[in-house]
Amino acid sequence: MEGIVKIKDKEFVPYISEIDIQKRIVEVAAEVNRDYHGKSPLMIVVLNGAFMFAADLVRNLHIEPEIQFIRISTYGNSMSSSKDAQLLLGLEVDVEGRDIILIEDIVETGYTVGYFIDEVQKLAPSSIKLVSLLYKPEKFKGSYPPDYIGFEIPGAFVVGYGLDYAQQGRELRSIYQLKE
Ligand code: PRP
Repeated sequence: MEGIVKIKDKEFVPYISEIDIQKRIVEVAAEVNRDYHGKSPLMIVVLNGAFMFAADLVRNLHIEPEIQFIRISTYGNSMSSSKDAQLLLGLEVDVEGRDIILIEDIVETGYTVGYFIDEVQKLAPSSIKLVSLLYKPEKFKGSYPPDYIGFEIPGAFVVGYGLDYAQQGRELRSIYQLKE
């Protein structure tokens, strides 16, 4: 793993290595393969942060998923979550009767994905599950904790592997934590 990364005014230290991320994704994919054997779930990727995790996750699946992307915007500053969420880029497929798997990079308060799950439930899918690479249980205040979790982490701000600080750092192969 590389050393300290500087993005704008902040410094970040190595936290979860590329190797550890990839190993864990294989394990999470195995759980999904087992649970959805013979099924064709609709996997909905929440942009932007989840793009990299989703790409690696689906390459480890042996089922036949469909893949769609949505965008949910949260208001608030760049380093904390806000309760208000707004669906920006909507779903383009019929979800009625489908097995839905939402793919997130991180669940903190749970408000962002909770808002979307509430909306999707109105469309009568057969099932909805949530897979998130990262989960901050200390910060969670929502109704839908992830069903599949890559790593449970403490509250500190993280960047890399899809996650940004002020829209930068998404390209990093590893995950970094804000240096205190
Ligand atoms: C991040 C992340 C989740 C959400 C988690 O998205 O991808 O969607 O915040 O926070 P919460 O559980 O407290 O709601 P963000 O709004 O930063 O957009 P991005 O994916 O484009 O970076």
